[in-house]
Amino acid sequence: MNSTGDRMSASAETKRQYEFMQKARALVSKRSDAIGRRLTFFIRTFGCQMNFLDSEKLTGILKEIGYEEAKNEQADLVLYNTCTVRENANNKVYGRLGTLKEIKHKNPKMKIVLCGCMMQEPTVVDTIQNTYPFVDLVFGTHNIYKLPELFVTMWEADGQIIDIWDSYRDIVEDLPAQRKYKFKSGVNIMYGCNNFCTYCIVPYVRGRERSREPKDILREAERLVDDGVVEIMLLGQNVNSYGKTLETKTSFAKLLAEVAKIDGLQRIRFMTSHPKDLSDELIEVMASSDKICKHLHLPLQSGSSHLLERMNRRYTKEDYLALTDRIKAAMPEIALTTDIIVGFPGETEKDFDETLSVVEKVGFDSAFTFIYSKRTGTPAAQWTTQVPEDVVQRRFDRLLATVQNIGAKKAEKYAKTVQKVLVEQVNKQDKHLLTGRMDNNSVVHFPGDASLIGQIVPVELAECRGFYYMGRLAEDNGEDS
Ligand code: 5AD
Ligand code: SF4
Repeated sequence: MNSTGDRMSASAETKRQYEFMQKARALVSKRSDAIGRRLTFFIRTFGCQMNFLDSEKLTGILKEIGYEEAKNEQADLVLYNTCTVRENANNKVYGRLGTLKEIKHKNPKMKIVLCGCMMQEPTVVDTIQNTYPFVDLVFGTHNIYKLPELFVTMWEADGQIIDIWDSYRDIVEDLPAQRKYKFKSGVNIMYGCNNFCTYCIVPYVRGRERSREPKDILREAERLVDDGVVEIMLLGQNVNSYGKTLETKTSFAKLLAEVAKIDGLQRIRFMTSHPKDLSDELIEVMASSDKICKHLHLPLQSGSSHLLERMNRRYTKEDYLALTDRIKAAMPEIALTTDIIVGFPGETEKDFDETLSVVEKVGFDSAFTFIYSKRTGTPAAQWTTQVPEDVVQRRFDRLLATVQNIGAKKAEKYAKTVQKVLVEQVNKQDKHLLTGRMDNNSVVHFPGDASLIGQIVPVELAECRGFYYMGRLAEDNGEDS
C-alpha cells in the first residue's frame, strides 16, 4: 500500500481535490454574491479523537472553499461526523436529523451532510435513503478527503448523493486542515483495526489496519511545531501495533523516540494502546523522555480472564496486572486510565467482582465506563446470554462509584504541589479562570490572563476537587517551562 506508485497516486489525488476546491469556491462565491452574505457551515462531531481530527480537516476544506463557521445548526451547510461504537451514538444522530429537517424547511437551499463511522453501516444508509431524503450528501470513513469533489457533485445534483467505500484505497494527505487549537494537534499515525474484539464494530467501519510512513508522520509533526504547536497527540485505534503493515517494519516505540527528537515540541501524548501489544521497548522510551507525557490510556474492558477471552482481547487478568506493575515500576508517576465495559454477554457477578478487583489493584486515575451495547454484525451480538438491564445498571453504578473513589484519592496526592500546566483556554463557566492540563492529563483551573494560552506554566494546585484542581499561578519554579 505504501509503495512509491501508491504514494504518487495519492499525491495526484490530492492535486485533483485541490482542483475541485477551486470549482467549489466558484460555486460558493456565486451563491454568496446572489444572497449578499457569506455562506456559513457548522460541523458537529460525535465519538473519538480520530473523528475530531477528521473534523479539523473537513473544517479546513469548507473554509478553503469560502464558507464561514457558524456557532450552531442555523447554517447553510451542516455536517455531522458520526460515531457508531455504541447504539446511543446512532440514536443521537437520528434525533438531531429531525431538528435539521425543520431548519431546512426555512432555508431550503441548506445542505445537510453526514459522514463518519455510522455511515459505513449499510442499514444506516438504507434508513437515511428511506426516511431522511432531505439529507444531501452521505460519505464514509475511507473517502473523507474527497469532500471537495463530493461537494461539487452535491451542488450540481438534484437528489441525495451517497458515496460509501467498503475499504480504503489510498492514504491521501496534505489537504487543508483548520486546527481547533493553535498550540496542540492530533496526528494520525495509523488507520483501522485488525483486532476484532467480539463486541466492537470499529474493524468493520474503519477497515483493516494500515500505518503511515514514519517520514510522513515526522514531516507533519515538524510542520506543526514550526506553526506553533507544542503538544502532539499521536492517534490510532491501536498505536502499539504501529509499523507492522509497513514494507520496512518498525515499531511504535521507535516512532515515538523519533518524534521526541523534534526541537520545540514539548509534550507528546498518544492514544489508544492495546495491552496485548504494549512492549517493554515502549515503556523504556516513555520513561527516558521528559517530553512524553506520563499518561497511558490502557483499555481493560473486563477484569475477568474468562470474559477477556470471550471478548477476544488476547490477554488475561494476570497479564494486565503484570503489565501495569512493569509500567509503574519504570514510571512511578504514571497516570493510568482505562475503558471498561459492563454487561458483556455472559458476565456473571463473579466476573464483575473480578473487574472491580482489578480496578482496585491497578488504581486507575480515571476510567471511561460503558454499558455493553449490542452492535449488529459483531460476534457478541448473536450471543443469547445477554445480561438483564437492571443487573447491568446496578453493576455500572457500583463500578462508577469505585472508579470515582479511587480516582479522587489518586488526585489528592498532587494537592498543594506545583505542576506544569499547558494553558488551553479561558474557562467556559468563569471568564476569570484559565483551564489547562498537567502532563498526566489532569485538568486544572486557575485565575489568569488569556495571553497565557498555549504556554506551559507552573501552577500551585491549591485544592483538589475530585477529578480536577483549582490552582494559582506559581512563582517560576526554576525549571524550563
Ligand atoms: N459496547 C460498549 N462499549 C463499547 N466499546 C466498544 N464497543 C462497545 C460496545 N459494543 C468501548 C470500549 C472501547 C471504547 C472506545 O468503547 O471500551 O475501548
Ligand atoms: Fe475495537 Fe478492539 Fe479494535 Fe479497540 S482494539 S477498536 S476495542 S476491535
